[in-house]
Amino acid sequence: MAITASKSHAHDAESRQDRRAQLVEATMEAIRQFGISRVTVAKVASLAGLSPGIVNFYFQSKEQLLLDTLRTIAFDYEQAVRGALDRARGAEESLLAIVDVNLDEHILNPRTASVWYAFWGESQARQDYLRIFGEREAAMQARIFSFFESLREAGTRTAVNAKAVARAFDALIDSFWEDCMADPEGFDRAASREMCVAYLNSVFPGRFERRCPEVDPPPERTRADGEDRQDIQGMLAPWTYRNPELFDVEMEAIFKRQWLLVGHASELDEVGDYLTFDAAGERALVVRDRDGGLNAFHNVCRHRGSRVVEGTRGRCRRSIVCPFHGWTYNLDGSLKSVPAFKTFAGLDKTRHGLVPLDVEVWHGFVFVRFQGEGASLAEQLAPVEHLVAPYRMADMKPLGGHYRKEYDYNWKIIHDVDNEGYHVPMAHPSLQQLYGKTYRDLEIDGVAYSTGTVDERPAKLWSVGKYKKLLPRFDHLPERHQRLWLYVGVFPNLVFAIYLDMMEFYMTVPLSVGR
Ligand code: FES
Ligand SMILES: [Fe+2]
Repeated sequence: MAITASKSHAHDAESRQDRRAQLVEATMEAIRQFGISRVTVAKVASLAGLSPGIVNFYFQSKEQLLLDTLRTIAFDYEQAVRGALDRARGAEESLLAIVDVNLDEHILNPRTASVWYAFWGESQARQDYLRIFGEREAAMQARIFSFFESLREAGTRTAVNAKAVARAFDALIDSFWEDCMADPEGFDRAASREMCVAYLNSVFPGRFERRCPEVDPPPERTRADGEDRQDIQGMLAPWTYRNPELFDVEMEAIFKRQWLLVGHASELDEVGDYLTFDAAGERALVVRDRDGGLNAFHNVCRHRGSRVVEGTRGRCRRSIVCPFHGWTYNLDGSLKSVPAFKTFAGLDKTRHGLVPLDVEVWHGFVFVRFQGEGASLAEQLAPVEHLVAPYRMADMKPLGGHYRKEYDYNWKIIHDVDNEGYHVPMAHPSLQQLYGKTYRDLEIDGVAYSTGTVDERPAKLWSVGKYKKLLPRFDHLPERHQRLWLYVGVFPNLVFAIYLDMMEFYMTVPLSVGR
């Protein structure tokens, strides 16, 4: 008896499961045909070939039925991803496995895509839906990030921001779901896969060839001091230069979280001297405090958000007075006074100071970081510290002032060409005559730098010839620097060009995806 009962329970459970699956299936079909808001229990029952009473027996309400349907889609997806990742070996195979799951017809087809987005459309008003989407998104992001991070750590592309690349890769995969829903006929799985492989190769060149991993393992890459960068040049996929969503990701994940240059400490000599700097939709203010230190804040008044100081530089007296309604802040950012203070019932001045930012002075150059945490700039640039230390950059004084120009192209383009000396012979004939074949693009532990040595060869250009002849010895510089031109890249947007008699810097400040 006991055995029979047990079998019977198992059988009951199985058939209940089948029924539920059948109803979930019918619900998906109903959503596809009628849209989520017009799904009714009667329609689901009719599509399943059952009576509405049976539907109500399994699901207490239409809401419950919908929720179970969404959970089922999310569960199936998660199971498929886990299965594929279990079979994959290494980060490369894992990333390709994620691509393949998302292009698998059982997972991504016009119906699942349209149902998924129908739920997404509802999710803004539904916490339970939102949680399911959030969990799937977070799980995917975390996985993808970990794969990119391990590729970054194991390879030579240590400057790659794994978080930003993971976001972009995730967005690329999401775009296949959108394509499949919007244009089921035109959606091309093979071309989509190729695009993913091309994108992955654009970030980690040559790592994602179509090959059998057993027969042809990926080339070993080693990292060494001063490794030549010529072998790792690559282009990003064209869409990355014109995609506004990727631009937003770049601002959030890169520009808001990296150290950005504001100016040189010598521009902030006196108490109350300030510099401002806008980037990634944020506004920074750096001011010299009475104790001689530098403070950085969001240049945003705590009253109505006005800039508290205007222009790119200036001097406040003893305090910072917002030009809009006159809220006044001390140089340490604390709120000092508020006109008609009594009319602001309950305003706690101690909680309404300017919002501080991370600030760091590196060899005299002042940097801010809008968000995020992590390495100090000194730690980030430690690999090239021995190269820059002799130049006494903190003691330098600005000669030429800042120069700013706007261009109609994506910010990455300038770094693509500037980061490689390949353009020098054609684009800068005078530099070619100055240091010619000695020019090299190098990298130490993720910090890119380039060097050229001023040679003794006669130069065709009068100015280059004279420069070579007149160049004196520089007693403060070690022997190997005596004729060195040094360029140091500070990720993501800055290059210090350190010459013998002077230095300059140039940086990109993205205004929009194409500007
Ligand atoms: S916005 Fe600054 S005082 Fe009103
Ligand atoms: Fe150049």
